[in-house]
Amino acid sequence: MQMAVLEEAFRHTYGYAPTFLARAPGRVNLIGEHTDYNDGLVLPMAIDREAVVVGAPRDDNVVNLFSLHYNEKLSFDLGTIARRQEHHWSHYVLGVADALLRAGHTLKGFDGVLGSDVPIGSGLSSSAAVELATLMAFAAATPSLQLSPLDAARLAQRAENCFVGVQCGLMDQLIAALGRAGHALLIDCRTLAHQPVPLPEGYTVVIIDTAAPRALASSAYNERRAQCEQAARLLGVPALRDVSPEELARRQTELPPLLARRARHVVRENQRVLQAVEALRAGDVAELGALMNQSHDSLRDDYEVSSPALDAAVEIARATDGVLGARMTGAGFGGCAIALAAQACVPALTTNLLAHYPKRTGLTPRLYPCSASDGATWHRLDDRLRQHSLHPC
Ligand code: GLA
Repeated sequence: MQMAVLEEAFRHTYGYAPTFLARAPGRVNLIGEHTDYNDGLVLPMAIDREAVVVGAPRDDNVVNLFSLHYNEKLSFDLGTIARRQEHHWSHYVLGVADALLRAGHTLKGFDGVLGSDVPIGSGLSSSAAVELATLMAFAAATPSLQLSPLDAARLAQRAENCFVGVQCGLMDQLIAALGRAGHALLIDCRTLAHQPVPLPEGYTVVIIDTAAPRALASSAYNERRAQCEQAARLLGVPALRDVSPEELARRQTELPPLLARRARHVVRENQRVLQAVEALRAGDVAELGALMNQSHDSLRDDYEVSSPALDAAVEIARATDGVLGARMTGAGFGGCAIALAAQACVPALTTNLLAHYPKRTGLTPRLYPCSASDGATWHRLDDRLRQHSLHPC
């Protein structure tokens, strides 16, 4: 993010200088897709694109927040939080304030400017980044507000589930809170136990934004979720997490064929996450790439959440020398894919995608080579060296 632009916009809007900067990253998921709401395993990493709030505390209960992207100022009193019209950007901010207040926290108002370089609506969790950056802005404005990363992630998820109305799992908010530079994060979405896993040097995760709109994303997402819950009920387990691939193979005739395929994706994907962590720890990058490929194929064939644009991006990436694996990332139905590439091969990957993807889809891809970054922090602008992160659990 261009910090000077944000600081200048703040001065222009409020006529004085901001005193704090709060930020939170977007994410890609390396592997472990559609497993979080099945109590399963995920392996996301926070990316070096983030939502940022520059701000200054106020002495009253008023929050003013100017969005650079929407060129619009939101003003509200913490005593009267009301929804705007459907799909309004402010719901992520209002939802976080509402969740914090409902959890019993006392908050102070602030003046702020919000900017983000996480592409919006592309499946890189721009919304979780805004939610966590807002939480950090409240932490900067309210000295008594101390949150652990798990609390922060849960509050942000509550904002999304209850205020925005999307029944997402916890992965996006957790990685925005807990990301670590140079690492992916293995998260057990049942126990919320998590551990950083170092990423290999010499390789780059390249985000391929298909530029295809995410058609039907939220209705189809909720439908997949319901199908998984139904499959778990029919198998008599609390969640698909509790079924091994072997058990499912034995019992799959107990499920209608569609549910059997959905379940097969989830149980094998959980296993792939564990294998991916093992591969990373053993320095076996080729194996990680192979697992990413299997994950995509399963999401395309069994879970049916890929799209022609995602498949085209993945196929072109895989056909490039030095690309070890490629898959869709996030909910699917459009949005982004990722490719794991040897650093030296990133230019060739870019050339291939720019040459072949438009021919196959009529769309121009946007490419973002990314690196793993830290989760949400805030700092005073006169003390840039003292970063405040969320408090250890
Ligand atoms: C979206 C949701 C996450 C997760 C992924 C699929 O990003 O917000 O909770 O379910 O889809 O893995």
